[in-house]
Amino acid sequence: MYGHVIVRGRMKIAVVPGDGIGVDVTAEAVKVLDRVARARGIPFEPVFFPWSADHYLKTGITIPDGGFDDLASNYDAIFMGAFGDPRVPDMKHAADILLGARFRLDLYVNYRPVRCLDDRLCPLKGFGADDVDFVVFRENTEGSYVGAGGHLKKGTPDEVAVQEDVSTRKGVERIIRYAFEYARARGRRRVVMSDKSNAMRFVGDLWQRAFADVAKDYPEIEASHLYIDALCMQMVKDPRQFEVIVTNNMFGDIATDLGAALQGGLGMAASGNIHPGRVSMFEPVHGSAPKYAGTGRANPFGAILTAGLLLDHLGRGAEAVAVEAAVAACVREGAATADVGGSLSTSQAGDAVCQRLRFD
Ligand SMILES: NC(=O)c1ccc[n+]([C@@H]2O[C@H](COP(=O)([O-])OP(=O)(O)OC[C@H]3O[C@@H](n4cnc5c(N)ncnc54)[C@H](O)[C@@H]3O)[C@@H](O)[C@H]2O)c1
Repeated sequence: MYGHVIVRGRMKIAVVPGDGIGVDVTAEAVKVLDRVARARGIPFEPVFFPWSADHYLKTGITIPDGGFDDLASNYDAIFMGAFGDPRVPDMKHAADILLGARFRLDLYVNYRPVRCLDDRLCPLKGFGADDVDFVVFRENTEGSYVGAGGHLKKGTPDEVAVQEDVSTRKGVERIIRYAFEYARARGRRRVVMSDKSNAMRFVGDLWQRAFADVAKDYPEIEASHLYIDALCMQMVKDPRQFEVIVTNNMFGDIATDLGAALQGGLGMAASGNIHPGRVSMFEPVHGSAPKYAGTGRANPFGAILTAGLLLDHLGRGAEAVAVEAAVAACVREGAATADVGGSLSTSQAGDAVCQRLRFD
């Protein structure tokens, strides 16, 4: 069932840089993929898509009819940058493109490794890089992101707003099972499920029962539970206790921003949106940081590490390891952007990774 990897001989990648620094960091991720592909003789064909705030404002189109069918049928994987532009305050294009990809392609696994690559990036007193190494699986197609709810008497003093949190047995069970399968396949011994079942009784009850049922199939793996507030506290108190965490859409979003802080900041965090065995989508965790767009200040390492996850997903594990090692070497040597202690521009940091790529 653990279908993290689909082996492909070629890499035809749909690339959607998006907005703001999404454009800047995606250029570096593609640069690194290109370098890897050349070194390893992998046919690499990046195909760029203009879908973004600019494109939406010019054309009125967020994603064209048939856009997702095209991505699902004609590419090996998708790489996205980031979305968000002050000129589109309701984030319509981001919802259509990013959430659209997650929902329409049923990318139910949001895979977010939390790995600190160098002691100098670990913000916790008394802890180092080796102490921060776990994975968060965020459910990616349900929860409060499904858009169920509405307004009543909007704009009046009697206004009511309702946002529903939807969990299905199928949806909850499959992300929990994926987390256990990952743990088994990767030699991890502990899975923690996190929810807020003391306050959110109905969905919490479903998550609790599904977790207990699935855990029975993995007797060699220690299964435990933490409320999401306690989980966040424990992540800071002692991150060594975590190996695999599984949680819902909203809590996973929040906990992995905290996770990013343990890795050296948002500029270091990578993610994959995966449906096992299907065309999946990879994006850095950070947003479009409009104030940094085009300034050369954006850290491309999160996007480059994301390219590493994409390689791993396409059966290129050795290449993925090489990409992560090259980024770690850059951080160690200070060949990085200012947010992680260097003085390089976005593009120079991408070049620095390329220079440090080593294949045995
Ligand atoms: N997946 C996505 O596309 C995504 C995710 C989060 C936010 N957003 C959107 O992005 C826009 C900006 O949101 P935000 O400011 O809350 O979050 P953000 O992640 O864009 O930036 C927050 C701060 O983190 C730092 N940062 C983030 N990425 C960095 C990088 N690569 N290098 C260096 N520093 C980096 C910067 O200091 C930045 O001001 C909003 O429109 C938001 O909705 C999009």
